[in-house]
Amino acid sequence: MAYLNENYLKLQAGYLFPEVARRVREFCEANPEAAKRLIRCGIGDVTEPLPRAAVEAMKRAVEELGHPESFRGYGPEQGYEFLRSTIAQHDYRDHNIEIAEDEIFVSDGSKCDCGYILDIFGDQNKVAVPDPVYPVYVDTNVMAGHTGHGRKDGSYEGILYLPCTAENNFVPDPPKVHVDLVYLCFPNNPTGAVASRAELSRWVEYAREHEALLLFDAAYQAYISDPEIPHSIFEVPGARDCAIEFRSFSKNGGFTGVRCGFTVMPKSLLAQTENGRRLPLHPLWQRRWSTKSNSVSYPVQRGAEALYSPEGRKQVRSLIDHYMGNAKLLRDAAADAGLETFGGINAPYIWVKMPGGLTSWQMFDRMLRQLNVVITPGAGFGAQGEDHFRISAFNSRENAEEVAHRLKTL
Ligand code: MLT
Repeated sequence: MAYLNENYLKLQAGYLFPEVARRVREFCEANPEAAKRLIRCGIGDVTEPLPRAAVEAMKRAVEELGHPESFRGYGPEQGYEFLRSTIAQHDYRDHNIEIAEDEIFVSDGSKCDCGYILDIFGDQNKVAVPDPVYPVYVDTNVMAGHTGHGRKDGSYEGILYLPCTAENNFVPDPPKVHVDLVYLCFPNNPTGAVASRAELSRWVEYAREHEALLLFDAAYQAYISDPEIPHSIFEVPGARDCAIEFRSFSKNGGFTGVRCGFTVMPKSLLAQTENGRRLPLHPLWQRRWSTKSNSVSYPVQRGAEALYSPEGRKQVRSLIDHYMGNAKLLRDAAADAGLETFGGINAPYIWVKMPGGLTSWQMFDRMLRQLNVVITPGAGFGAQGEDHFRISAFNSRENAEEVAHRLKTL
């Protein structure tokens, strides 16, 4: 009989969002009337239609594939040059960040990249994650066998958890001990916190001193409105030697269903072999892509490219403004209901302190039953999340207004 990957057996619960969906489904089956009023502010999934610029570009690309003279088969495994050069120019070089086209790897999303990246790292790395945290970082390390067993509070042996609390504005300080890989996400999912240039500089300093690598998830960078807050870890001098950045078109271009994102892997990044040879990671990442993938489809890459066109940028801006308008409504309503709120200013998530005496799953149930609103319980993001819940601003304006109204009755 074949052997299975026993690391999967260490995973303590179903992945957070399917688990939320399962509980919501059960509630709706048992309460069909309440189900009609249900509003979902749980998973951060976009609700508004794709920007027209992307729709038109994808339609044109599909049409091209339907004619012999413009048909294309397999694309480059790293992504088409037209998209990589657009990204390098608009997201980086226009902001005085030196990133080359061949340091961009186009993929089917940053969630996926956060998991794929472990293919090129050894098992010996000491890994640090913020707590609370986007569960993908932890669960993929469990699956890869980089952790010990799970503990009662949902954490895993072998991972260093960096508490993010109101006291540190949900931005952890670098640890006093050595780690090899650190996951950072700003604007943060789930807390909506952002990191200042000084805070990111401390992380880059730590990484350089410890020869650690920062795995920087910038999936929500488009939501930053404060001009002082960096959008990229590469805005910090020295980050080219210690950071990998993940970005996504999901939350700016509404591509959660279309699927497209990218990784920035500087050619200057080094990691070591067991016997101490220092080698660049870029060729390994390239090898990984050319062996395991053919990137994402041509029409999708044309759609992503169109998000950078003048019309595309305007349409993206109006999507972000729409979701941030919701964020303000929801944040204000939660505050009016007497709840302490964080985030929701440079990020589409509002992190809400729990009223005393309930666990975050109990709060989830209460919101579901009393308000018929789905939120995400903080415990799903880690032990430090237990006394908070997250409200997602990804919704129609009508739904956000209705949730704001219901919150006031809480
Ligand atoms: C979330 O709700 O945390 C996100 O939608 C998850 C994701 O982007 O994968």
